[in-house]
Amino acid sequence: MGDLNYIPIDTQDIISNYLEAFIQLDKSCFEENWNEENFLKQVSGKFNLSFLCIHQRELVGFLFGSYYAWNKQKVAHINRIATSTNHRNKNIGSKLIWNFEKKVRHLAMDIVTIEFNSRLNVSEFYIKNGFMPLKTNEIKSYLIAKQKLDKLELFKSFELNIWKKTLKRC
Ligand SMILES: CC(C)(COP(=O)(O)OP(=O)(O)OC[C@H]1O[C@@H](n2cnc3c(N)ncnc32)[C@H](O)[C@@H]1OP(=O)(O)O)[C@@H](O)C(=O)NCCC(=O)NCCS
Repeated sequence: MGDLNYIPIDTQDIISNYLEAFIQLDKSCFEENWNEENFLKQVSGKFNLSFLCIHQRELVGFLFGSYYAWNKQKVAHINRIATSTNHRNKNIGSKLIWNFEKKVRHLAMDIVTIEFNSRLNVSEFYIKNGFMPLKTNEIKSYLIAKQKLDKLELFKSFELNIWKKTLKRC
């Protein structure tokens, strides 16, 4: 396979330039889709922690990240990650996470969180990338920090997975 380019999404212009491609890729990957507004939304840390992957001028992957405060710590979060169906299992998703984590370390954070729906069936992918489920006693404070306490029932019904990774200091 030819060159894959991983590019930081560090301005609103990059999102605007690829907006249609983001929306199409998202549609092919998720049941509940992000629209223009979701992609363009201003979120803390977004332009430090988001990346796209290009193959022969085609958008083949993206990761949108952000940061928030949890237990008085600044924590990085993966808001959305996707690889186009015909480029899966070529390490693009893991490389996007690798780029993201490099930046997370650079910003002196060492915890990364992710939420995903059980239907997506991506536990293997996150295990491979060093993530593990949050401990039961961490769930409530996490949901409060994210202002999502209403999702507690989804978590209890095993529909929502909340995982984290603690990065090792280099
Ligand atoms: C999850 C996703 C980003 C992985 O992207 P990718 O570029 O294929 O990732 P990688 O090539 O780095 O890793 C793939 C590994 O994860 C595993 N994997 C990924 N998706 C999987 C799935 N749906 N079912 C089972 N295993 C899966 C594969 O076993 C593979 O492991 P291997 O390399 O040991 O064979 C991609 O499958 C995707 O876009 N899925 C739809 C969107 C989604 O679910 N996003 C995550 C929720 S926010």
